[in-house]
Amino acid sequence: MKILVTGGAGFIGSNVADGLIAEGYEVVIVDDLSNGRKENIPGKTKFYKADVRDRKLEDVFKSEKPDIVIHNAAQLSVRVSVEEPLTDADINIMGGLNLIDISKRYGVKKIIFASSGGTVYGEQKIFPADESHPLGPISPYGVAKLATEHYLYYFSKAYGLDYIALRYGNIYGPRQDPHGEAGVVAIFCKKMLGGEVPLINGDGLQTRDYTYVGDVVRVNIAAIKSDFVGPINIGTGVETDVVTLFNVLKSASGKDMEEIHGPAKAGEQRRSVLDNNLAKEVLGWEPEISIEEGLNLTYKWFEENN
Ligand SMILES: NC(=O)c1ccc[n+]([C@@H]2O[C@H](COP(=O)([O-])OP(=O)(O)OC[C@H]3O[C@@H](n4cnc5c(N)ncnc54)[C@H](O)[C@@H]3O)[C@@H](O)[C@H]2O)c1
Repeated sequence: MKILVTGGAGFIGSNVADGLIAEGYEVVIVDDLSNGRKENIPGKTKFYKADVRDRKLEDVFKSEKPDIVIHNAAQLSVRVSVEEPLTDADINIMGGLNLIDISKRYGVKKIIFASSGGTVYGEQKIFPADESHPLGPISPYGVAKLATEHYLYYFSKAYGLDYIALRYGNIYGPRQDPHGEAGVVAIFCKKMLGGEVPLINGDGLQTRDYTYVGDVVRVNIAAIKSDFVGPINIGTGVETDVVTLFNVLKSASGKDMEEIHGPAKAGEQRRSVLDNNLAKEVLGWEPEISIEEGLNLTYKWFEENN
């Protein structure tokens, strides 16, 4: 089976591509290298340097004929989306729609989309949020993720193109980017390794559902094999605040540091945590890596790779 991974030079995409190869899948990667790195691309893949917004992407589909598309390519910064909503929509909505349209025309069986459970629900009313929680993104980034989910729904109804939208929590782990939704982990690791004390924004009690990238790799493989169509939360169900992150990474570093706090970021979402029961039920997936274990693995990776 041939799988085309967009954004395969990036953090999540390259980890997923590694996992797919280990499982024996044939992998084709599309990435414009705007944020990804060539050295992240696994050796046993075919790589096309291309923009997902480009209509000529169709040439890749014509020659490769992928069975499944895993769509990770995106502008990944919530803050950039607030400052430049048109750029965000261009990449994250129009790029996604281009890919969906081409996939439909070239007989792709299923699209697995990297959506965002951390942003599509907006400020949560129920903790943890399951998939029926009201949708109300409070950033252009979240709006674009939701818009792409709506297009996927439409194409599945109109043309029978199956999809699974994996609504990720905040994903962290080796190769992660400091600008992503779980960027704080990369930022803290780098600062601590450089002998600096990282600054905690506000009181540090803002929470997220931090999910280890190895668990995300496993869920992508489960999604390939599943018949389910629709959105699924991918998280741990555990709320972790920034002060806890700081303390776990501090012990991973073995350094003695006092917490320091800066001003809170205006408009930052306060709490986010995802109910993962649907993933357990329909994908047979649940996270295996605890926050302590995952942060230790991540710190070690930054120590060895920076
Ligand atoms: N990291 C998280 O916590 C998180 C949480 C929820 C959802 N997601 C989503 O998961 C996906 C992967 O995120 P990531 O953290 O690995 O980010 P990343 O930046 O490491 O990976 C994205 C990749 O897409 C590529 N790309 C960007 N624009 C492109 C374009 N127009 N055409 C082709 N390639 C393009 C980049 O070069 C990069 O390699 C994204 O869709 C992101 O929105 C991430």
